[in-house]
Order: sequence, then structure tokens, then C-alpha cells
Amino acid sequence: MLRFYTAGESHGQALVAVLLGLPAGLEIDFAYVDRELKRRMGGYGRGGRMKIERDRAQFLSGVRHGRTIGSPVTVLIENQDWKNWTQAMAVEAGAEASAQYRPVSQPRPGHADLAGCLKYNLTDARYVLERASARETTARTALGAVARLFLREFGIEIASHVIQVGRVRSTAAATFEAIQALRDREEILLNCLDPESEERMKGEVDQATQNRDSVGGVFEVVAHGVPPGLGSMAQWDERLDGILAQAMASIQAVKAVEIGTGVEGAGQFGSEVHDEIGYDREHSRFTRKSNRAGGLEGGMSNGEDIVVRGYLKPISTLRRPLESVDFGSREPVKAAYERSDVCVVPAAGVIGEAMMGLVLGRSFLEKFGGDSMEETRRNFEGYQEQVRRF
Ligand SMILES: Cc1cc2nc3c(=O)[nH]c(=O)nc-3n(C[C@H](O)[C@H](O)[C@H](O)COP(=O)(O)O)c2cc1C
Repeated sequence: MLRFYTAGESHGQALVAVLLGLPAGLEIDFAYVDRELKRRMGGYGRGGRMKIERDRAQFLSGVRHGRTIGSPVTVLIENQDWKNWTQAMAVEAGAEASAQYRPVSQPRPGHADLAGCLKYNLTDARYVLERASARETTARTALGAVARLFLREFGIEIASHVIQVGRVRSTAAATFEAIQALRDREEILLNCLDPESEERMKGEVDQATQNRDSVGGVFEVVAHGVPPGLGSMAQWDERLDGILAQAMASIQAVKAVEIGTGVEGAGQFGSEVHDEIGYDREHSRFTRKSNRAGGLEGGMSNGEDIVVRGYLKPISTLRRPLESVDFGSREPVKAAYERSDVCVVPAAGVIGEAMMGLVLGRSFLEKFGGDSMEETRRNFEGYQEQVRRF
């Protein structure tokens, strides 16, 4: 089974991630992995931190001479900012007396600060926020890229785009090819398909920045080329729609997940929503006239593009801080301020792509298994033949 773990604090030495269960013989394109890390760092409205970091994935295990060897894949990504935090984030005891160490005792609304301090019995929210920070998603992005290299071998590609920033929503029609073409852009800006909407989205970010405020928005992730039958209708926790919803909601600041046109569909008649089934005799395959289900029916992929949206709340850290209470005095104070992004919707989309890759990689290996790429490929091709002959 494909599983992964990540570790590391935002201003610690490094982030580490371990991926278990990949078959042997998968070629790793290191430049592809680093490009995904770079995409995660981009987008209009990012804060100063992303100017400091130069994320690069160092493979420590599981890959030899460019290919996976069946053992756990470990990736390390250094935090360049660590050199500025060696005292404030020292591993050894004693540095608490240094001038660099300033406990965060004014918890920020919308962050893990208060709940985490209560849970772990800590009075410095630094220890909580360091791990709650979305810096952790750097590790997920690196592993997601590896999972996507695996899926690519079977014709599955994943891409994302932004459909809303603040109050501006793009309604531009989105083919998979157009979304995928966005990946070639060197400058991400807001990763929106429609230049006119993108310009207005930029205006939303500018307005939030001027007002010392923040914005949220919506990204859409699409997986193309997914065979029918990943996931299962048999048990609640095997349903691919539920697993994808969890994966997307686990991205920091994502507060709602939509599959296909699920939100709009809730207010429509059934005849307006469900995707009628046809048959293409020439290519011996079932077809759909629409894909409002977002490629998922009964907890399984149905062969159409999988379409999932993540809805982000506005960034919690505000330059104009909200009310809070000091841990020591219990008096009202303004919440602490940490250097912060104003808008992260495009980056969240890139992380959404990584999560889609990791979830589909796992479902794919659950269905087809295999300890080597050759074995997985044989199993996959056998299933494809079965579907063709159905
Ligand atoms: C790519 C990315 C970057 C983020 N950067 C920031 C940031 O700079 N400042 C901030 O307050 N929140 C940021 N967030 C959101 C917080 O990490 C998140 O809101 C917080 O940890 C609380 O978790 P929750 O919103 O999921 O409840 C970011 C989220 C993502 C996906």
C-alpha cells in the first residue's frame, strides 16, 4: 500500500518525507520534482518567506541510479531560513535565554495556536505553529510529484487552476489541455485560465494587501486518464470521493471540498445534474455527454476526468491583527503577527495536485498491486483488456 509521512518544522533545519510502497523500477525525474516545489512557492500575494527559500528535494533513500528499488523513499528539503532561527528554534536546551527567542503568547485567531497550546499544554504557540504551518506541504508536494511520475507511466496526468480569488470568480470553460498548459508558464501569477478574470483577481489581492487584510478563493484539480474502478462502493472508508475530500480538506486553510458540480447540483433537478451514458461502437467504450459528477460515482472513478475543488478561507494572519488574549496576563491584546502570505490559492492548487497524486497512486496500487513496475504494468494491462472486452 502506498503510504507517506512527513516531519519537520517550518523554521527547523529541514523537512523530511517518507513514501512507502512504490514498486521498484520507476524512473525518477528529479528536475520534475524540483519544478513542482518551485510551483508551490509561486503565485501573486506570497510573503517574504518564499523569497528566502530555494526548495530542492534531496533523495536520501529508496532511489538508486535514477530508479526506485522498492525500499522506502526518503526526501529531505532544507529550510534556508533555518540559519536565522538557530537560537529561536534550537534543539538543545539553553537557548531560551537568547534575545532571538520570543515566545508567541498572543494566539492568532484562525490558526492552530490556541487549540494546540491547550492540547499539548504549551504556553508558547511557536511550538504549535511551526508544525501547523503550510510549510509542511513542501514535503507533500515532493512526494506527490513522485506519485505523479508513477501515475504518468499509466497515462494519468494531473493539473490545477484557480477559479476564484476573493470575490472574483472565473467562469471560463476549462478543458484539461488548457489547464495543463498553465503548467508551462514560468510566472504563475494567479494560475487562472482567463486573463481578464486573473487581472481582476490580482486587484483583489492588491486591495487586501493595501487594507492589511487577506483573501481566500477556490482551486480546481483535475486528473485525466484515470481508469474506471479505482476506489470502491463497498465500505465508507474505501470510497474514493471521501478519501479525496479528506485529502483536499487536509490542506491548510481549505474549509470545503466540492466534487464535480456538487454545490450547484444541490439546488438543481436530477435531470439537470446526472451524466447520461452513451456507447461508442467504433472504439468499444461507454461515453458520457457531460461530467458533472466529476468522474466519481458510487465512490469509484468512472473513467471521466476526476474534478475536485478546494475552497480556502482567507489567510488567518493579518497585518491588522484581530482581538486575542495574552496567555500570561489574560488581558485582551492584538494577536501576534508573523510574516505572512496574503493569498495562496494557486499554491494550494499545486498542493491539491500533489494530494490527488498521492491518493490516486494509493488507489491505483490497491487495485493493481505489484512490487515492480513490470508487474504493475502487466496487472494494469490485463484489466484494461477486460474493460475493453466487457
Ligand atoms: C500554501 C499555503 C501557504 C500558507 N501561508 C500562510 C501564511 O503565510 N500565513 C497564514 O496565516 N496562513 C497561511 N496558510 C494557512 C494556514 O497554514 C492555516 O490557515 C492554519 O495553519 C490553520 O489551519 P486551518 O486553516 O486548516 O484550520 C497557508 C496555507 C497554504 C495552503
